[in-house]
Amino acid sequence: MKAALYTEYGGPEVVRIGDIPRPRPGKGEILVRVGAAGVTTADWRLRAAAFPGLFTALAGRLMFGIFGPRNPVLGGEFAGTVAEVGAEVTGFAPGDRVFGFAMRGAHAEYMTMPARGAVLQTPEGLSDTEAASLPFGSLCALEFLDRFAGVKPGERVLILGASGGVGVHAVQVAAALGAHVTGVASAAREGLVRGLGAAEFVDYRTTPPASLTGPYDVIFDTVGALGYPEAAPMLAMGGRFVPLNFGLADMGQMRRARRNGHRVILKVSGDSRGGLERITAMLAEGKLRPVIDREYPFSEIRAAHEHVESRSRKGSVVLRIADRKHLRAAA
Ligand SMILES: NC(=O)c1ccc[n+]([C@@H]2O[C@H](COP(=O)([O-])OP(=O)(O)OC[C@H]3O[C@@H](n4cnc5c(N)ncnc54)[C@H](OP(=O)(O)O)[C@@H]3O)[C@@H](O)[C@H]2O)c1
Repeated sequence: MKAALYTEYGGPEVVRIGDIPRPRPGKGEILVRVGAAGVTTADWRLRAAAFPGLFTALAGRLMFGIFGPRNPVLGGEFAGTVAEVGAEVTGFAPGDRVFGFAMRGAHAEYMTMPARGAVLQTPEGLSDTEAASLPFGSLCALEFLDRFAGVKPGERVLILGASGGVGVHAVQVAAALGAHVTGVASAAREGLVRGLGAAEFVDYRTTPPASLTGPYDVIFDTVGALGYPEAAPMLAMGGRFVPLNFGLADMGQMRRARRNGHRVILKVSGDSRGGLERITAMLAEGKLRPVIDREYPFSEIRAAHEHVESRSRKGSVVLRIADRKHLRAAA
C-alpha cells in the first residue's frame, strides 16, 4: 500500500510517498481503509522534531526517537471505512464508515486501530474529509476547556489562535459551554471566528495580546503568545491560564499563580473515545461543525505540511488519501 513515510527529522521534503506492507488487524483491532486524514500541528512538530522548549524537546525525542523517528508514518485524525476486523472485535463490521484519532499511521491507505480506542461510526451526512477534520482540534478543545479548565456558563474566555486547527473548535466548544468568547486571530478571520460563536474579536496584528486588559476567567493560548506573567494582569480572581505549549518556565509559574488566586493548567490531551462521543453529540445538536481550510490530494502532502507549519490558517487541513491520482508521480 502507499504511505507517506519519513525516516529523518526535517522540513516537508523529508516526507515521501512510498510502498509498505498493508498492516493486518491484531486481536481487538480494526483495519481501516483511510478515506481522508488531517495534517495537524502535531504532524509537523513530529516531522521536524520541533518540540517547544528544552524539556519538551528532550521528552519528545525520548518518546518519538532520539536520532530519527521511530515510526515512519505520521497522521492522527482520520476517517474511512472498516476493511477487516480482528479477533474479538465487537461493534464494528467491514463496510462501516468510521472516524477517529490514532497515535500514528493515518497518512497511509490502510491503518489499524484498537476497536476500543478513539474511533466511532461516522455521523450520518458527514463526508470523510469533514469527519477527518474534527478529532484533533475538537478533542483537544473539549478536554482543555471543559475537563481541565472547567469553563462555566457566563465565564469570559479568551482564545488565542482562534482560527487555527485547535482554535476553530475551541471557539465553538467554549460557546457551547455557555462562555462569552473573545477570539484572537488576524483581521481577515473576524467573520469566521464570530460566525463560530465568538462575541468579541481581537486582531493580534494591531492589538498585541499582552496589551489586553480583560478580565478573563480563562485564557486558552494555542499559539504560545503569552506566558503567565503577561496573562496574570488580565485574569479575574479564580482565573485559569491554559497554554497548549509549555516548558519548564511555565511549570515554575504554577506556585506564583496560586498565590494570586489563579491556576496555570499544564496538561496533555488524552483523545478518548468518550470525548469523541461528546463531539458526535455536539455535531448532532448543531453546536459544532467542521471548518476546513484546505484539502490536498495525498500526493501533495508536502504542500499540506508547509501550509500547516505556516501557523496561519482558517481551520483544518485535510488530505484526500483515497484520491490516488498522481500518487505514482509523488512516489
Ligand atoms: N498539550 C496538548 O496536549 C496539545 C494538544 C493539541 C495541540 N497542542 C499544541 O497546540 C498548538 C495549537 O495548534 P494549532 O494547530 O491550533 O495551531 P495553528 O493552527 O498553527 O494556529 C494558528 C492560529 O494562531 C493564530 N496566530 C498566529 N500568531 C498569533 C499571535 N501572535 N497571536 C495570536 N494568534 C496568533 C493564527 O491566526 P491567523 O491565521 O489569522 O494568522 C491562527 O488562528 C500546537 O502548538 C500544538 O502542538 C497541544
